[in-house]
Amino acid sequence: MTDKSGGPAAEGAAGPGPHRSATTARTAVVWEALRGLLVDLARDTDAPLEIVDAGGGTGGAAVPLAELGHRVTVVDPNPDSLAALERRAAEAGVRVHALQGETRDLTDLLPPDHAHVVLVHNVLEYVEDPVAALADVVAVTRPGGAVSLLAANAVAGALHRALAGHVGDARRLLADPEGRWGDADPMPRRFTAERLAALVEGAGLVDPATRGVRVFADLLPGRVFEGDPREGRELVELERAAAGHPALAGIATQVHVVARRPR
Ligand SMILES: C[S@@+](CC[C@H](N)C(=O)[O-])C[C@H]1O[C@@H](n2cnc3c(N)ncnc32)[C@H](O)[C@@H]1O
Repeated sequence: MTDKSGGPAAEGAAGPGPHRSATTARTAVVWEALRGLLVDLARDTDAPLEIVDAGGGTGGAAVPLAELGHRVTVVDPNPDSLAALERRAAEAGVRVHALQGETRDLTDLLPPDHAHVVLVHNVLEYVEDPVAALADVVAVTRPGGAVSLLAANAVAGALHRALAGHVGDARRLLADPEGRWGDADPMPRRFTAERLAALVEGAGLVDPATRGVRVFADLLPGRVFEGDPREGRELVELERAAAGHPALAGIATQVHVVARRPR
């Protein structure tokens, strides 16, 4: 049964364990946006929403979404991740449809206009061609549906690299069009908010809502909030406040954009 309230996704995503406060603070802003989106889209239908998680990996988002009663499909090229996803879904007592493939395979694996929502979280950094990947994502999103993009912020990449003592890397990262600090950089690509906005517009998506994710959570030492639930809650509130702050959002570790496919 679909939880029309948007449900306890934030709790589900955070999961139990000692790092729960940190995880919650890092994911709260994204889940808040997703909850609002799902509530909005669920108004138009009595059936569960169709959600596709492109590059959904081991199901960190897909399983909590399925727990809310939505029909979730993960498309990911990594068979080990898909196996872990299936175990995670089984443990949670939900079904998630797992399909092996890349973003370029989306249009072969799924019918056109299939999904109410397509998640592309931490994936555009790795695809061969982000423009083509987003075109394939849009093709399987139904008119009026939404795409949720989460991507590494190049500005934060430079900030974190400098704070780790690698000042030259930070300067190189800022100057590099792909937001990389060098050949040894494990991240194939980082985005600025402007580049992501241009990508979204070029794909024909409209009404983008952009927020900064993990402004403070990745800068503070864990001990500040991990042992103290009250501090953990304060940090979540701080992340919420910072997500839309004109200056602070610019240094967030990730940029989150939710945009609609026109009807
Ligand atoms: C950093 S993980 C992100 C996983 C998940 N979306 C999350 O946010 O936790 C990147 C994922 O993208 C997948 N991936 C890599 N190249 C891809 C491609 N071309 N198309 C779709 N997924 C891809 C990887 O297998 C991996 O699961």
